[in-house]
Amino acid sequence: MMDTVAYQKKVSDYFSAACVQMVLQLAKDVGILDILFSAEQPLTSVKIAELGKLKERYVREIIGALATSEIIQVDESSTQFHIPDDHKAILRRVTAFGKVAHCMGQRMGQMKDILSKDGPDGMRFDGDLFGAFEETRILTQDSILDNDILACLPEVKDRLEKGIDVAEFGCAQGILLLNLAARYPKSTFLGSDISESCVEKARTLAAERELTNVSFEVYDLLDLPETINNSFDWIFLRDTLHDLPSPAKALQGIKQALREDGTASIVEIGMQGKLADVKGDIVWARMFSLSTFLCIPESFQRQSSDAFGACWGVEKARQLIKDAGFTLVKEYFSEKNTASVNYVCQL
Ligand SMILES: C[S@@+](CC[C@H](N)C(=O)[O-])C[C@H]1O[C@@H](n2cnc3c(N)ncnc32)[C@H](O)[C@@H]1O
Repeated sequence: MMDTVAYQKKVSDYFSAACVQMVLQLAKDVGILDILFSAEQPLTSVKIAELGKLKERYVREIIGALATSEIIQVDESSTQFHIPDDHKAILRRVTAFGKVAHCMGQRMGQMKDILSKDGPDGMRFDGDLFGAFEETRILTQDSILDNDILACLPEVKDRLEKGIDVAEFGCAQGILLLNLAARYPKSTFLGSDISESCVEKARTLAAERELTNVSFEVYDLLDLPETINNSFDWIFLRDTLHDLPSPAKALQGIKQALREDGTASIVEIGMQGKLADVKGDIVWARMFSLSTFLCIPESFQRQSSDAFGACWGVEKARQLIKDAGFTLVKEYFSEKNTASVNYVCQL
């Protein structure tokens, strides 16, 4: 157990981080970050305000928060501010997640109702949240595909080059699948999601990119149509199985859709060990928090749900995959993303 001084600091730091996050999101939304991203030399708060058509007094306060938190750099005179080039890409990527935190805040009232014994069981993802997911996915797509999904699948990569049939279930706006369709023109791709608005968006993006080897359908993973039985050489799901009321039922559908010599990649959040083993690790504190506001409510699509949540743990996932009748041929923990595991399954 930590001493009271360390405990005081830890709890206060969470509050401080939440405050800084709010200002960071504001700086992004009013264009202050973009001004600093495109600046070729350090800028004063007056110049930032002028460029952004903003009130200098507020800009100065925001810049104070960003500089003292070391998100941006300040010179010795405390008047000139900049973001070093090698910080820019990182900051762009990380701030893409800010809207997800904002959506959590918007859900606070409904979450209180949901928690109440007589309140609703859950709450579905909505347009704002899908928009937030899309923003993060646009910036992280190559890293997810290369580091979390394909890194452990050299044989699937070979087959993708030659031409195979691929499906992704729970694809949201299809950002990952569209990326793959552009990379591997000899393969064909089917993306599906239960959200009609996401599927519509994915179709629009495919048309804009003039991709003819990819299509999108609205499917419920718990009720996949028989017409797609035995249709795919590689099926993948990312960050979706734990959001379902019954992951076991979904795995049965995936099995049906897979060809006999096919491979399924279930890419999941992979918490190893028990709570006590990961305590103090902010990544898992974040995952449990996200899961509370997003994953558990989403999984209550039907009256009863397994409601595993994002931190369901590798032991449970492993068992479910085996119980579904898959052979778990590989478990790959991403080197870049400590929370991601790719369960590589075959029939
Ligand atoms: C956390 S998002 C992950 C999206 C995408 N795979 C990614 O990594 O960016 C989970 C997705 O699962 C979808 N989903 C939830 N329940 C579903 C169901 N019963 N059938 C199909 N998709 C579902 C949601 O609409 C959402 O797009």
